[in-house]
Amino acid sequence: MTALSALSRGLAPPRGFVEASFNPPPGAIRLLGGVPAPEALPAEAIAQASAELWRDHGAAVAALQYSPAPGFAGLREWIAKREDVDPRRIVVTNGGMHGLTLAVLTVVERGATVAVDDPVFPGFVWALDIATTRILPVPVLADGFDVQHLAGRIAAGERIAAAYTVPDFHNPAQVSLSAEKRRGLVELAERHGFYVIIDNPYRELRFAGHDQGVAAFNGSDRVIHVNTFTKTLGPGWRVGWLVLPEHLVEPVIRLRSRLDVHTSSVTQAIVERLVTRDDHWYDGLVRSATRLYRERARVLVDALHEQLPGAFEIRAPEGGLFLWPRLTDDRVDPAALFRRAAANGVLYQQGEYFAADPQQLSAARHLRFAYGDRTPDELNEAVRRLAAAFRGDGP
Ligand SMILES: Cc1ncc(COP(=O)(O)O)c(C=O)c1O
Repeated sequence: MTALSALSRGLAPPRGFVEASFNPPPGAIRLLGGVPAPEALPAEAIAQASAELWRDHGAAVAALQYSPAPGFAGLREWIAKREDVDPRRIVVTNGGMHGLTLAVLTVVERGATVAVDDPVFPGFVWALDIATTRILPVPVLADGFDVQHLAGRIAAGERIAAAYTVPDFHNPAQVSLSAEKRRGLVELAERHGFYVIIDNPYRELRFAGHDQGVAAFNGSDRVIHVNTFTKTLGPGWRVGWLVLPEHLVEPVIRLRSRLDVHTSSVTQAIVERLVTRDDHWYDGLVRSATRLYRERARVLVDALHEQLPGAFEIRAPEGGLFLWPRLTDDRVDPAALFRRAAANGVLYQQGEYFAADPQQLSAARHLRFAYGDRTPDELNEAVRRLAAAFRGDGP
């Protein structure tokens, strides 16, 4: 038997997501993943763009050859325009997780400490595992990552290689980072010489409130901005991008030349054709998707208020795909509630799985509902089943 490397031996299986440990009843309603609604995915436009590609001999041949390492020029330009940066700063990736892993491998020394959102997107902690398990949990407040808390820890002598946050429609905490705190975080990073890893897959999915902007991130050579087409074109593409400070473009490309070389040329060619076909197509796609998500968020929030009045502290989402209500009654045991809810045919993610600090119980008082890929009828029925679980009813 071949021995595994120390790195491979050290990678624990991802913990927490219910499928791995639980056999839900048939017909269970899943409020589990932050994935797009099937009806929001542009299958017809994709069919057309793909057919056009293979009929265009020059483009078809280019799609079957190596890509420039940072990505197809037209796609990088399109992304750069939306991000309001120079196209040379864009590197096309195989989705958001890949961008996070590249960021970690490029700027986090083995064993270094990294500050992370608490609660945190568990995918980042898995990506971070490749370099380090030393994390400094930073509370996520109503206006996002607690920059002052981090500043206090640094003043007390803590040294970090990077800070990680999801600034828009946080996964799981649903909140957004204020414009002032965006500037504050970047200033702190510049003053103390750490990197900020910004993970922003939900930014486009705003249906209320005001965009807090990315200018503060774009203007700093300490920010790595990670994004993805997963929430708009679908996770199956595995296409995303990095907005890098100029000095990190070459190091990331050198790293990739040892890993995957570049993102699939075929995939890039189709995505490039799709998004560049006219100036309004992508915006139209995002607009109709967010209309759907606005309605679904409203249905879910209304149903919780109606059927479980006072059971949760609820903040109405302004965008994204998650609701992160907090249980108001300390006597409710979230694990027992989850078991009864699952037996009644509704599945959600338990808050404890998002705790960056396992000693801290605050995340465990929350439930994470992903509403994007469930219809209003399913959401109403899900809340009916949850209400039965609250009453202690079983199947
Ligand atoms: C906060 C966050 N970052 C990154 C990702 C991963 O995106 P991708 O599917 O493009 O790898 C997700 C997906 O759920 C996410 O919620």
